[in-house]
Amino acid sequence: MTQPTTTPHSEADSSQEDLPFHLKGNFAPVFEEWTETELEVTGSIPPELCGRFFRNGSNPKTGWSPHWFLGNGMIHGVELRDGKANWYRNRYVRTPLLDNPEASRIRPDGTLDLTLSCANTHVIRHNGRILALEEGSLPFEVTGDLETVGAHDYAGKLKTAMTAHPRICPETGELLFFAYGAIPPYLTYHRVSRDGVLVQTEEIEVKGATMMHDWGVTRNHVVFMDLPMVFDLAAMAEGGMPIRWSDDYGARLGVMPRDGSSEDVVWYEIDPCYVFHPMNAYEDGSRIVMDVCHTKRISLDPTDGTGTPPTLVRWVIDSDAGSVSEEVLDDRACEFPRVHDGRVGLQNRYGYVVGLADGEQMGSGFYKYDLSTGECRTHEFGDGEQAGEPVFAQCPGADAEDEGWLLSFVYRPDRDRSDLVILDATRMEADPLAIIHIPHRVPMGFHGSWIPDEA
Ligand SMILES: [Fe+2]
Repeated sequence: MTQPTTTPHSEADSSQEDLPFHLKGNFAPVFEEWTETELEVTGSIPPELCGRFFRNGSNPKTGWSPHWFLGNGMIHGVELRDGKANWYRNRYVRTPLLDNPEASRIRPDGTLDLTLSCANTHVIRHNGRILALEEGSLPFEVTGDLETVGAHDYAGKLKTAMTAHPRICPETGELLFFAYGAIPPYLTYHRVSRDGVLVQTEEIEVKGATMMHDWGVTRNHVVFMDLPMVFDLAAMAEGGMPIRWSDDYGARLGVMPRDGSSEDVVWYEIDPCYVFHPMNAYEDGSRIVMDVCHTKRISLDPTDGTGTPPTLVRWVIDSDAGSVSEEVLDDRACEFPRVHDGRVGLQNRYGYVVGLADGEQMGSGFYKYDLSTGECRTHEFGDGEQAGEPVFAQCPGADAEDEGWLLSFVYRPDRDRSDLVILDATRMEADPLAIIHIPHRVPMGFHGSWIPDEA
């Protein structure tokens, strides 16, 4: 069923020129929640793909947000089963912030209200629970039909936020995550068992409050990235950018056993940089290999021009030498790295990224790296088309690491609509296997997951 839209994006285009990038073009929010069950498909959906593709993003309900990272979370989902696309739907994550955007995160007793979440950054499933994530708040549970259940605090045990980039260990089924804060504790580590019980919480000592967006997890260790994007509380009080680059803070990687605590962390100095997203991390004897989308410097103000484009860099953390080496694997700009979910924390042969050929926030193609050979294969979309994060869905029962599909929403500016595109990951240059035409625009977003039907 199609519900009518009342605020077509195209009508607003002519007045959008002065808006910041995150509120115009295909970054602009949509204002309706649709449920569509009659989806046109070009090509053939692999019948083995049975489940749901969910992708979260920032979609300010009022039409305005001061930054791309601060809009209300809206998840766009498509259910695939037995070669059919059963539905597309988009739903806000209904946190208290949705209807009360001015609500204060600081309660009268001085504690933080961690339910005031944008819930806009990622969506994962662990232990049968689907969680919408945003790094400053508690996770929010949603149903398989994207209805909001509510904040999830692990039976009251979780007293901090959860990063939007937890990792599910493919070997133990544990959910590993951290939280950072502008006020102490600046960094906290958590471990949840495969059956969803919060079994470990550790405060980790760091020099100060930094924006720690993501991290690395290996079979036995976690890697904290203590990088020089520091909280500036004075600027925050004056309504300015709360997080800024620091020339003084330095940059360190902290390696800790997964069941360790703050005193077990071994810190390694590295050259100042920022990394939003590692592709993966894994152990190689006494070394940890970590491939990351690495920038020499960033700014959260996209107009200040000091940021540099991210490129794929390999860190090797050598515990014997006590040092970290750095090698550029590809000098072309890229972001939104993904690997096979079954290779998280283990050595991966393949990695997938969005290529940012024009330095934009989103790209018009995907790169697939074979890290065993250095080969890179590409899939290019059309002129002006914008692809989001390539999510890998494995073919059930497959042996080869790349036997599966890449799923992503792709914006088609000529129609002001988006498609869910399904590529054969073993044949990157080939035409998509299937294109599921969404009868609306899906704004550029952040991260998502392929959530296969549970056996
Ligand atoms: Fe992210």
